[in-house]
Amino acid sequence: MNKAISVSKITKSFPGVLANSDINLEINEGTIHAIVGENGAGKSTLMKILYGMVKPDSGDIAIFDNKTVLNSPKDAIDSGLGMVHQHFMLADNLTVLESVILGIDKATFKNINLKRYTSEITEVINKYNLNIDLNKNIDELGVGEKQRVEILKVLFRGAKILILDEPTAVLVPQEVDELFNNLRDLKNNGVTIIFISHKLDEVLEIAEDISVMRGGIMVNTVSADGISKKDLAEMMIGKSLPKPPKRQSSISTSEILSIENLSAVNENGKKVFENISFKLNSSEILGIAGVEGNGQREIVEAIIGIHNYETGTIKLENNTIDDFSIRERLNLGISFIPEDRQAQALIMDMSLTNNVILGRQSLAKYKTKLTTVNLTNAAKASESVVENFDVKTPNTGTIATALSGGNQQKYVVGRELEDNPTLLIASQPTRGIDIGAQALIWEKLRNTRDEGLGVLLISADLEELIGLSDRIVVIYQGQFVAELQPEEITPEILGSYMTGLKK
Ligand SMILES: Nc1ncnc2c1ncn2[C@@H]1O[C@H](COP(=O)(O)OP(=O)(O)O)[C@@H](O)[C@H]1O
Ligand SMILES: [Mg+2]
Repeated sequence: MNKAISVSKITKSFPGVLANSDINLEINEGTIHAIVGENGAGKSTLMKILYGMVKPDSGDIAIFDNKTVLNSPKDAIDSGLGMVHQHFMLADNLTVLESVILGIDKATFKNINLKRYTSEITEVINKYNLNIDLNKNIDELGVGEKQRVEILKVLFRGAKILILDEPTAVLVPQEVDELFNNLRDLKNNGVTIIFISHKLDEVLEIAEDISVMRGGIMVNTVSADGISKKDLAEMMIGKSLPKPPKRQSSISTSEILSIENLSAVNENGKKVFENISFKLNSSEILGIAGVEGNGQREIVEAIIGIHNYETGTIKLENNTIDDFSIRERLNLGISFIPEDRQAQALIMDMSLTNNVILGRQSLAKYKTKLTTVNLTNAAKASESVVENFDVKTPNTGTIATALSGGNQQKYVVGRELEDNPTLLIASQPTRGIDIGAQALIWEKLRNTRDEGLGVLLISADLEELIGLSDRIVVIYQGQFVAELQPEEITPEILGSYMTGLKK
């Protein structure tokens, strides 16, 4: 078989991390080749090297047997290689057609030959069976459609090799199916696909060859035929698998959170959620399922006091908290794991110990008579989080950046559980982390739930939502459209409520 890509002895280090160590990899032309590995294994770094975004310290790359030095993405594109990033890079106010053309050549929209482009792009759409309407605006598109536009952009630039970095992380199951159909069509038309994921079911479904990375090393490349999920997982984490979650519900009758008829609009006067009512008891995990952007974020922000609501009432235990400040709400025992650990939960260049105090400065244990905080207690709390949550770090003086994503997240979750909260709001508590860290966080959430904690869980990971929740509500276009029992549903069923197919 011809090689689309040959990577030989690629090494790349960042300060304190060997992200890629002596990597060898061969990708056969016209195949779908998956690369799996825990978060931090070095997958994205290797892909960015292939795409000319990151320069390796040493090693060689050949694309279609030509040894190539890639100094920029432009070099990669010229060699026939394109990449679809996890975070889309589309401007909301353009049409699909404009988005695809944008940056193609120096033409401006005035002198560009739109007719010619339209027919050329339509040809690509038809050839690969992509379901895309060129006249729509980007802001009218769902996540799956946006992803197809990104793929179209890359194909239209002549890519023969397509890199997709964790493309399914943002999709519901139905959209994953559609993506996979697209990928198969691409492959049948001779396109080589490199598919990055840490979801083993997906990889086994779509790929012919699977390369496993761990800790910057290429562990092995195997054929998808005849390899089990268990074997792959063991290669990935280097030890036996964590046990799948087992639900044992023990919801108590004491009410922790009560929300009645909550409605809110955004700054443009558009409704973000409407008539939301629900109750959450002690020792209960209530899952909120919804495609991103359907109002779940704003509901969480309303509970914490960041987002205004026009009507409705929020009660936390015996307190009606509508007029409470954010600080007062947190001091009543609300803890919050935000969806983006780096942007919202941690100050990345501060030590773990300083990060433990974030949002808690006014707690008695951190207060001193002076204007400073009680660093002895902060250090103690930090030590305790590191120990209880198995956070891998040289010490608690280490800055947050130096930790892998999984360890950062364990630290955040540990911090939020450290002071015995009454209510925990957990947004995407295990997004993008390795299965080891994920299993630990699941276990901790379940244990603290059993001890009486009420948890509001927002997650795009439907297996997680179903596995952890005692009850699930589905939000669609700002309204709760269904309440489901986790043991009675599958991710597919949940997906059809989330996309409005099922009511
Ligand atoms: N620009 C960077 N600066 C410093 N460290 C980085 C950078 N990019 C990646 N790393 C580190 O390199 C390692 C591999 O990261 P990455 O390639 O993103 O892994 P993966 O995509 O498998 O999750 C991680 O420890 C990560 O923190
Ligand atoms: Mg990555």
